Order: sequence, then structure tokens, then C-alpha cells
Amino acid sequence: MTKTKLLVARHLPKTPMQKIYDNFDIVDIAKDSLTDEQVIAAAQGCQGILVGSALRKDLIDKLPDSIKIFSTMSVGFDHIDVAAANARGIIVCNTPSVLDNATAEIALLCMLGAARGANWGHTQVATGQWGKPGSTAPLGIDVTGKKVAILGMGRIGRAFAKLARGLSMEVHYYNRSRLSADLEQGAIYHETLEKLLPHAQFLSIHAGLTPDTKHILDAKAIELMPDGAVLINTSRGDLVVDDAVIGALKSGKFFAAGLDVFSNEPNLNPEYMTLDNVFMLPHVGSATIETRDAMGGRAADNLIEFFNGNDPISVIEL
Ligand code: DGY
Repeated sequence: MTKTKLLVARHLPKTPMQKIYDNFDIVDIAKDSLTDEQVIAAAQGCQGILVGSALRKDLIDKLPDSIKIFSTMSVGFDHIDVAAANARGIIVCNTPSVLDNATAEIALLCMLGAARGANWGHTQVATGQWGKPGSTAPLGIDVTGKKVAILGMGRIGRAFAKLARGLSMEVHYYNRSRLSADLEQGAIYHETLEKLLPHAQFLSIHAGLTPDTKHILDAKAIELMPDGAVLINTSRGDLVVDDAVIGALKSGKFFAAGLDVFSNEPNLNPEYMTLDNVFMLPHVGSATIETRDAMGGRAADNLIEFFNGNDPISVIEL
């Protein structure tokens, strides 16, 4: 039987990638750095794309009519113009729900790393400074029992709230709509971001990046936060205004920040690297063996289900 032709712009972990090899006739461009024209040429005759880098409208508009589905191995889909894809009859699938705990764990790590100066401590030990005269640790701040404000109380926000409750934190949140009591688990809802921010001794961002949320944490918003607050961002860098965050880190408005995501990754604003009070990670929220396998499995299964005539597991609905 002839297999469906699939354009593969990224490789999945080993087991789900094998599913792709078993089920599809692949055109592999994952290791190439291609121009749009070359991508369009490679896509001829393909019926789906296993997404790699950004798929913007101008490229989507020129893809062959044979393409019916994009599958991305991520929950975030800000790298894909879903409206432009849907306008061409292409459905877009992502991998929600399988990375909630892994991402919440990284948010916890960022919160603790920022509050306790983990970057400083690690550097001291790694460079043989420990015990040398003058190496007195700068003091961190307590986390247990403080207030944490969660911006975006979807699955990942709720998984993080559960971990924060383990530290006896008082959980506040802002979300487009209020959750049921069952999902809130005692978290305190605020109808606007402006009402949430004064409670943000710790602010953890778990909102998706959309035109509405881009730069949602700007200088005006930061002003509403308590002095000495800690910012945690494991969602997307463009949710914050870098200059405003860097200004707050320099002035002491923020005690510290724990950041796993940045605008323009991997070319982040170099000022972050000059600051002692930032605990930084290179976008590793979902980077565990189990979670990446599950994400790859979902990305492969979305394609397999679709081409078997079934509904894919996770279709993005705008
Ligand atoms: C996601 O799935 O969106 C994670 O941030 C990894 O890109």
C-alpha cells in the first residue's frame, strides 16, 4: 500500500519517530536550513507537515493544496499562523496535557532558584569559590507561606498551583474566566490582572502567547506588584516586556526572577546575563525523557489518526 507523504521538519524522540517511519513516506528536511521556496518545493505531493520552525502566513499561503494537517510537538502554537492554515483548510494539532507536570516542575525550580540564589550558589561551588574568604552567600527570601499569583490558570497553571500549595503558599489567579470550585482548589480568583498583581509576592506566568497577551507584563503592570517580588516565567518570553523586567531587577522592585523562556530565543536580551538576581534556563520546561516521549507520541498519533480517517487527539480551535 502506498504510504502518505509527510514533510518532516523536525525529528521526534526515537520511539514516536519510528511510528512516523512506519506509517509515512517521509521527505526529511529536519536538518536543513531551507528558504521558503525550498520548503515549498520539498512539500510538493506531501499531505501533512511535522512542524519544525515557524510557519507564517506568507509561507502557508504558498504551500501545495495537498497539505491537510500540521502537527507540532509542543503545546504552544505561537510559531504557527493557525488562522492562515485553517483558511486554507489545514488543521493544526498540538500536544496539550502531556507536559503539564514537567513544566510546573520547572516553574517550581525557577521559583526556588530565584528566591534562593541558586545561580550564585552553583557558580560558587563549580568554580571552587566555596569556603574562600569573602564568599558569604547573599541571602535569599523565604517561599513557604507567601502569596503566589498565577497568570493563566490552565492545566499547567493548575499543576503549578498544586506544587505551590505544597509550600503552604496562598494561591491567587487571573484567568480569562473563573474556574469551577473543583478546579480552583481554594485559589483566589481576581477578575483583572490589575487586581491580581498587588498580591504577587511571587508571580508565575502560565498564559499562552496570543496578540492579546503579548507584553502583558509591562512597566505599568510591574508597578502594581509588591516591592521585592519574584517573577517566574516558563511560558513564553514575549509575554513580558524585557526592558521593564530588567529595570525592575536592577532597581530592586523585583528581588529576583526565574526565567525558562525569553523573547527572541536563543538570542535573548544580553542584559539578562549581566544580572546576578536571575536564575535562567534554556527553555527546558518539557525536557524530560518521559514528557518528550509523550509529546512525540501525541504529535505522531495526531497524524496517524487523521490519515486513518479519525479525529486527531488534539486539534487547535481558535
Ligand atoms: C511547548 O510545548 O510549548 C513548550 O514550551 C516547548 O516548546
